[in-house]
Amino acid sequence: MTSTDTPMVDFPVRRPGESFPPAAYAGYRERPGLVRTTLATGQPVWLVSRHEDVRAVLTDRRISANPENEGFPKVGRTGGVPTQNEIPGWFVGLDPPEHDRFRKALIPEFSVRRIRAWQPLIQRTVDECVEALLAKDGRADLVEDFALAVPSLVISAMLGVPGDDRPFFEAKTKILVNLQRSTEEERADAVRQLLRYITRLIGIKQKWPGDDLITRILATGAITPQEMSGVVMLLLIAGHETTANNISLGVVTLLANPRWIGDERVVEELVRYHSVADLVAMRTAVEDVEIGGRLIRAGEGLIPLIAAANHDTNAFACPHEFKPDRPARNHVAFGFGVHQCLGQNLVRAEMAAVYKTLFERVPTLRIDAPLEELPFKYDGTLFGLHALPVRWQPSSTP
Ligand code: HEM
Repeated sequence: MTSTDTPMVDFPVRRPGESFPPAAYAGYRERPGLVRTTLATGQPVWLVSRHEDVRAVLTDRRISANPENEGFPKVGRTGGVPTQNEIPGWFVGLDPPEHDRFRKALIPEFSVRRIRAWQPLIQRTVDECVEALLAKDGRADLVEDFALAVPSLVISAMLGVPGDDRPFFEAKTKILVNLQRSTEEERADAVRQLLRYITRLIGIKQKWPGDDLITRILATGAITPQEMSGVVMLLLIAGHETTANNISLGVVTLLANPRWIGDERVVEELVRYHSVADLVAMRTAVEDVEIGGRLIRAGEGLIPLIAAANHDTNAFACPHEFKPDRPARNHVAFGFGVHQCLGQNLVRAEMAAVYKTLFERVPTLRIDAPLEELPFKYDGTLFGLHALPVRWQPSSTP
C-alpha cells in the first residue's frame, strides 16, 4: 500500500459538542493501514490509532521526536515542540543518544521512591488548595481555583523555588496554559519572565545549593546551567495543564460514578479513560518504515492518537466504560518508549491525594452546570476543561 491509496480524513477531529475520544477514531482503527490527514498548515500527516501501532511508532528508532526534522507535524496554537535553538534542554524533542543524558540525570528525581519521599509535601499542598477552595464559600471554578494550582505548587516546591516566589511562578504558568483567557503576547511575555526567573534561580542554586531537584541535577554535571533552564521549563509546562485537565475531568467522571469515590484504583483508569494528552506525541519517520501494514516514507509526519489507542477494543474490553477494576496498566496515556512520561509517578501521587482529600473534605461537591454546557477543550493538543463551575454546601464541610 502507498500514500496515494489512503483515505483522507478531516483534522482536527475533535469538535464542539462531540464526546471524547471522537467517534471517528473507531472508524480509523477499523480501516486497514493508516489514515491520512492535512493539518492547518497544509502539511499531510499519518494518523495512527490502533494500540499496537501507536506502541510501534513510539518505540521504533527509525521514527524521530525531533521537531527540526522536515515533515514534523505542527499542531496547536503554539505550532508544536520548541527546537534546541529556541529552548536548549527541551529534551522531549531529542532522540537517543542525545536524549539519554537528560533522561538518566532526571529519572532518579521521579522514581517511585523519590516521589514517596515527596508525599507529605504533596498532601500538604493538596490540603492547602482544598482549604483555599473552601474559602470561596460554596461556589468556585474548580480549574482556576484548584486544579491548576496543585501541580504548579508541587513542582515549584520540588524544584526548590523559594516559598515567596511561588505565587509568581503559579501566576505565570497559569497564563501559559490558560489558553482561553490569555493572549499570545501575554503567553510569550510569561515565557520570557519565567525563563529569566529560572536562569536567576539556577545561578542562586549554583552558589547556595539546596535540597532540591535543580541543585541535585546541576551536581551531576550532566546538564549545563543553560540546558537546565529548558529542563525546568519543560517540567513546569509538561506537568501543569495535563495534570489539571486530568483532575477536573476526573471530578466530573467520579461525580457521575459515585460508587468509585474512595477507591484508589480510579487513578490509573481515569488517566486511561480521559487520555488528555491525545495529540502531544508528534513524530517523523527518518527512514522508510512499515507501520500497521503501511509504508511510511522517510520525511513523513505521524501523529499517534493516544486516546484512540487507549480506547481500542483489541487492547481493552469495553474501553468506553469507566471500569477502575480493569487491568489498565498497558495504557499509553503517558506515552511509551524512551519518551514515556517522566512525571507519571508524581501524577499518580497527586491524583490519589486530590481525589481522596477533595471528596472527604467537600462531600457535597456538585457540578454547577448541565454537563453539555461545560466548556470542554476542543482546540489545542490536550483535552480537558477550560473551566468547571462547582458548588457545595459550606455548612456541610467538617
Ligand atoms: C512526556 C502525558 C504529567 C513531565 C509525556 C508524554 C505523554 C505525557 C503522553 C510523551 C510525549 C512524547 O512521547 O512525545 C502526561 C499526562 C500527564 C503528565 C497525561 C498528567 C496526567 C506530567 C508531569 C510531569 C511530566 C506532572 C513532570 C512534572 C514529562 C516530561 C516528558 C513527558 C519531562 C518528556 C519525557 C522525555 O522526553 O523523556 N507526558 N504527562 N508529565 N512528561 Fe508527562
